[in-house]
This record gives sequence, C-alpha cells and structure tokens, in this order.
Amino acid sequence: MRQAGRYLPEYRRLRAEAGSFQRMYKVPDYACEATLQPLRRYPLDAAILFSDILAVPEAMGMELNFLEGRGPVFAAPLRDSAELRALVEPEPEEALDFVMQALSLLRAELGVPLIGFAGTPWTLACYMLQGAGSQDFQRPRTLLYAQAEVLHALLERLSRVVAACLAAQARAGAEVLMLFDSCAGWLSPDHYREFALSYLARICRSLKDCCPGIPLIVYARGSRGLEADIAACGVDAVGVDWTSPLAAARRRLAGCAALQGNLDPCALFGSAQNIRVAVEATLADYGPGTGHVFNLGHGIHRDTDPGKLAVMIDSVHQLSRSYHSR
Ligand code: CP3
Repeated sequence: MRQAGRYLPEYRRLRAEAGSFQRMYKVPDYACEATLQPLRRYPLDAAILFSDILAVPEAMGMELNFLEGRGPVFAAPLRDSAELRALVEPEPEEALDFVMQALSLLRAELGVPLIGFAGTPWTLACYMLQGAGSQDFQRPRTLLYAQAEVLHALLERLSRVVAACLAAQARAGAEVLMLFDSCAGWLSPDHYREFALSYLARICRSLKDCCPGIPLIVYARGSRGLEADIAACGVDAVGVDWTSPLAAARRRLAGCAALQGNLDPCALFGSAQNIRVAVEATLADYGPGTGHVFNLGHGIHRDTDPGKLAVMIDSVHQLSRSYHSR
C-alpha cells in the first residue's frame, strides 16, 4: 500500500527532480526508479508499479491535478450523461504507453514479482463524480439514487477500460494484477453487489479469458464481511483494511481465496516493541497455515519513519515462520 512515497527521503528527492507527482508516473525512468526505491531498502516480496489509479480517467479525457496538501483534483468533475458520453475509451497501449514502458523496464530488472494495478469502476467513478477525495463522497452516492442508469452507464464504460488497461499491463510484463476498491465501504451490501461486484465480476471474467493464470488481488476498503462475495467474482486474493478481523474473513472465505492485510498503517507510529506486538497480533488473527499475504490495511502515511517500516518487515519475516510450519 504505497510502498513508494513521501515517507522515503529518496522519493522526495526524486519528486523534486521530476518537478511533480504526475511527471513521476508519466516518465517511465522516474516511475521505474520510484518503484525500485523501497525494494532497495527493504526485503519485500513483490514490487508494485509506481503509478496512480486516476491515470485512467485522465486518459479518458478528464484533466487531473495533484495539489499539494489536497491530493488529486479533477478540473471538471463529471456532471451529466452528456459529459459521460464525451469520455473517450482509450487504447491503453497508446494512452497509457508510459505505464507499459515502465512495466517492461521493471520486468527486466526485478527479482521479485511485479504487480500491475487499476482502480475498480466504483472507486474510479467516486473520484470522477466527486472530483477529489471526500469525507462522504456525496455526489456518487446521490447519483445512485437520483439517476442509477447514468451511474450504471459510467460503470459499464469504466469496466471495459479497466479490463483493457489491466490486460495491457499483463502483456507489458505485470505478473500479478491488483484492483483497488478504496471506496467499497461507502455502499450498503446490496448496493455493493449491484454497483461494484457485478462490474468486478465482468473484469475478472475478461482477464481470466485473455490472461489465464494471472493472479488477481482485490483490495476493498470497508469490506464489511463481503469477502466471499468478492472472491466469487473470480478473485485469487482479497485485501482488507484493519477494521476487518482476519480470522472471521478467513472463515468466510473458506479457502476460496487468499487473504491480504491488514495492519493499521498508524501502528507504524508506535514503538518498535509495539510494532512487533501488532504484527504478531495480525499473524495470530489469521492463524496458522497458508493463504495469508501480510500487508498494511491501507496506504502508508507520509510522516512514517522509514526505520519503523523496517521493524515491521523484519517482524513479519521472523514471526510468520512459525505460522507457516504449523
Ligand atoms: O502502492 C504503491 O506504491 C503503488 C502506487 C500507488 C499510488 N497510488 C501512488 C501514490 C497506488 C497503487 C495508488 C492507488 C490509489 N491512488 C488509490 C487506491 C488506494 C488507496 O490509497 O486508497 C487511490 C484512491 C488513489 C488516488 C490518490 N492518489 C489519492 C487519494 C492520493 C493522495 C494521497 C495523499 O497522501 O495525499 C494520491 C497521491 C499518491 N498516489 C501518492 C502516491 C505515492 C502521494 C503523492 C506523493 O507522494 O507525491
């Protein structure tokens, strides 16, 4: 969860050199370097491409800016079906050529699996309609009741684009594909099935057809006990945030998919001893056996001490052994 980022001094230096966050993901050499930085520091098991889920709506024609202290902001959030129709369905190899180039470069250099990713249609729609991050994502949630057919049309279009974008990433060298559903928790379970999972299932089906064997991970922030429904879309691993107890999620999944997560990123502000205790608690919550991919439950905070992440990773390596051998 944001392995690369502002908590690393070398990332801040690279960003200053690049001039902006957007230039970092649009210039393949910078994107490669940002991807590799955390791997040079830490013994991580996988690399995730340095990019952003909002590069897709940007490629569909929406002007995007990343503002200091505010994060991503669309110049003109989507308002109606005419604006929706005006969105383009880009050819990923052309419109996102920088993503594909970065993946090919990385694949040649890496000794660990390379993860490509995209946002889910629901999470992308939330940002495109709201225009920025939000405390309540009121606009997408309102559209759902006021004009469900417009929301469905947007989600359908996004499903095609996201599936094409992920397939192109697999062709360019990604060995695992991950979908981020950071806005999952804004929907009731029934709406989650209707507005999120039905589109996720389409994407998974299309990827299983065109890229058989490639593992798919879906991270749902606010999974609210729906892990088995997510897995039923054809997902190989379900990522959850720290509010979902792993033991219960594991029981619900019943071996249908692996479980990824879920240490609270704020745990990294505790002492080294407290971090070890928190890692042990996460491992114990999942319990002995296979099928657990240790991860943070959401993105790492910018003012995290990089040394504390080293403590976390070291603790995972030491403490997880006994869980695998039991
Ligand atoms: O995990 C990784 O290291 C891969 C790269 C990655 C980024 N964003 C880099 C990034 C990934 C996978 C994302 C996904 C992403 N982007 C999501 C889904 C996951 C999540 O975090 O919920 C979302 C919702 C976005 C949109 C986005 N991009 C937001 C809300 C922000 C602002 C966050 C902040 O801290 O201000 C970004 C910016 C962003 N994307 C940063 C990074 C490293 C921080 C900007 C910077 O460091 O310069």
